[in-house]
Amino acid sequence: MKALNLYFSATGNTEKIAKQIDRTLGEQGVLVDSVKVSKDGMEPDILAYDLVLAGSGVYTWLPGKPMIALFDKLREKYVREGDILPASPRRQGKRAVVYCTYGGAHTGVKEAVPAVKFLAQLFDHLGFEVIDEWYFVGEYNGKLRPMSLKGRLGNIEGRPSEADLREVSEKVVGIMRV
Ligand SMILES: Cc1cc2nc3c(=O)[nH]c(=O)nc-3n(C[C@H](O)[C@H](O)[C@H](O)COP(=O)(O)O)c2cc1C
Repeated sequence: MKALNLYFSATGNTEKIAKQIDRTLGEQGVLVDSVKVSKDGMEPDILAYDLVLAGSGVYTWLPGKPMIALFDKLREKYVREGDILPASPRRQGKRAVVYCTYGGAHTGVKEAVPAVKFLAQLFDHLGFEVIDEWYFVGEYNGKLRPMSLKGRLGNIEGRPSEADLREVSEKVVGIMRV
């Protein structure tokens, strides 16, 4: 099985999750390509993988801009090449997991849901089975740091924590059983 672990991380939180995913998949004997999305980065060939995990930090309810730009480019390419078809026929054995890290200061997990649903749609359009959606808490960095103490989720300083990373590993082991 070949896996792609595609992620965007502006302040390092999602990167911690992505690295844990990479480590755990490796321990499970899965060949994994981990790719950090950047402004002028490469376009991975999603269809070359059996399992794709895609994650991002949440910025104004959506994934980071470079992730949105990449997904727009990929969607256009797959439509042009006839890989995205009306009714989105299923692709045997192709699976995806979408995830985010989020601060949730205003409305909690509800403000992370649109970001994860956005990521899921490219895979659903391509005919992948989206087997799970993962939401991990990530502290606010930079100027918004005080939001880590003032929001709906209470004190989220230091998240993702060691316990969060253990949860990541458990979830990765869990999806390998699917
Ligand atoms: C400028 C900025 C805007 C943010 N907007 C949101 C938001 O709308 N909703 C939310 O839940 N979290 C928001 N966050 C918190 C981030 O989603 C959280 O810190 C996440 O873990 C960042 O991931 P990253 O470090 O991988 O980019 C914001 C953080 C920053 C710095």
